[in-house]
Amino acid sequence: MSMIENVVDIEQYKVTKEPYYEAVGGEIELYTSAYDVRMPMMIKGPTGCGKSRFVEHMAWKLGKPLITVACNEDMTASDLVGRFLLDKDGTKWQDGPLTTAARIGAICYLDEIVEARQDTTVVIHPLTDHRRTLPLDKKGELIAAHPDFQLVISYNPGYQSLMKDLKQSTKQRFGGLDFDYPEEKIEINIVAKESGVDEKIAEKLVHIAQRARNLKGHGLDEGISTRLLVYSGQLIAQGVSPLAACSMTMVTPLTDDPDMRDTLHAAVETFFG
Ligand SMILES: Nc1ncnc2c1ncn2[C@@H]1O[C@H](COP(=O)(O)OP(=O)(O)OP(=O)(O)O)[C@@H](O)[C@H]1O
Ligand SMILES: [Mg+2]
Repeated sequence: MSMIENVVDIEQYKVTKEPYYEAVGGEIELYTSAYDVRMPMMIKGPTGCGKSRFVEHMAWKLGKPLITVACNEDMTASDLVGRFLLDKDGTKWQDGPLTTAARIGAICYLDEIVEARQDTTVVIHPLTDHRRTLPLDKKGELIAAHPDFQLVISYNPGYQSLMKDLKQSTKQRFGGLDFDYPEEKIEINIVAKESGVDEKIAEKLVHIAQRARNLKGHGLDEGISTRLLVYSGQLIAQGVSPLAACSMTMVTPLTDDPDMRDTLHAAVETFFG
């Protein structure tokens, strides 16, 4: 095995430019305090409400590298921890993203953690209690996490079944922050800044979303996200007509149900008709 097997370029994980993030409550201070004691954190909230942007912003603010892993049900513990690979010189150990993060002292962000199977999820247990270690069983190595290492997970509490929930023994290793779509004024500000439309148009977009959000559980699985409002604004800023922009971003992706589409179109026309 070569000596340079685990040399990683930390620079590639640094967040060099400030990710624009509009605080909605005390979340920046709360997260900072949690980071100060290296508390593992769980960020909960609906899709497109700012969870990932917040984590990127915090990594930048704290000056720590960020390693993000999109979790899915096919993911195995080896995908997180690492595996032996075969190359021309024989076998070579390749660290997984969790191992790299633990070694270099990164913030490791496991996105949509509930998608992962429970036998995958348990590999984070020794890293998220007083031990702060990661056993690489196949390699016979026990890593002590770098003092700067922190684990952050996100999940959307809306759409998982009982089968797909985290075990209590996993949940109770984390502090949690609840996220939701920002309150009106802040969301208008975000949409205007992110998309380039003026405040008046941003306000209309937010008002349409507020109406549609009332349909959650009454035919819609999820409300219109802040992300989709930004999409709308971006199209409008490109010169697309508001009706077409809203239809593309706030109706078509959301539902296939013709009645629900009519309802959403009607809401759009109330503001842009
Ligand atoms: N507080 C905020 N400040 C700045 N931008 C925001 C904020 N909240 C949402 N946004 C905007 O909404 C978009 C979507 O946010 P983000 O990608 O963080 O969502 P998410 O909660 O991670 O969603 P998912 O669960 O689908 O991954 C961002 O790209 C950004 O444009
Ligand atoms: Mg995200």
